[in-house]
Amino acid sequence: MSKMSLDRILQSQGFGSRKYCRELIAAGEVSVEGQPVDAWKTAFPTEGLQFTVFGEPWQVRTHLYLALNKPADFECSRKPSHHPGVMRLLPEQFGWRDVQSVGRLDHDTTGLLLLSDDGAFIHAMTSPRRHVPKVYLATTAAPVSPQLIEQLLHGVQLHDEAGPLRALSCQEVDESRLEIILEQGKYHQVRRMLAAAGNHCVSLQRIAIGPLSLASLGLDEGEWCYLEASQVEALMQTGA
Ligand code: URA
Repeated sequence: MSKMSLDRILQSQGFGSRKYCRELIAAGEVSVEGQPVDAWKTAFPTEGLQFTVFGEPWQVRTHLYLALNKPADFECSRKPSHHPGVMRLLPEQFGWRDVQSVGRLDHDTTGLLLLSDDGAFIHAMTSPRRHVPKVYLATTAAPVSPQLIEQLLHGVQLHDEAGPLRALSCQEVDESRLEIILEQGKYHQVRRMLAAAGNHCVSLQRIAIGPLSLASLGLDEGEWCYLEASQVEALMQTGA
């Protein structure tokens, strides 16, 4: 198993520059596997290494795979302009590690958002060739009707799209709510499809991506969690 000096380990995990990490270690703010370590040159096998910084526990992770229950009024953009960015909801270190959202939700859409610093994972989840299904719960202004469902399943033409876009599945939940599954991830797609079908989306929540449901994660709005290796694996196999 490969070994790495403690300053490099901390830097790789997003704790700041090498110089700053050495200062943290020299100041006695870092423990490894329960033991304080104040020499930055001390090397450790990195895999799964447990350490604390300022008493807070961490584990070495080569890549980060996260799920967030996104609240409304947060932007997914890396340079948010009108609302705070979702990175504000995560530990600061994750920003240093270049964690990004996997695709985007509108600022007023809530629900399941994946984030990662693994480019291959982000690509696999967002590539149009993979058809990863995303499940949304849309609240509509006008009542849900069989005609609305028929239109969404049959396909609606949006401006700037070559052909009609259709939902993979569309089911009435109650008279003003619709569960809609899309394979594509076009800009404002659910809202634009509902508008094109003569209705209006009042609120939108993403409740699942492929095999991963928001309900199974048990996250309150604004909460995040690490994904288990098996969850990442199941996502990677979706639509492949
Ligand atoms: N479709 C939308 O219209 N908005 C989202 O945030 C996601 C899908």
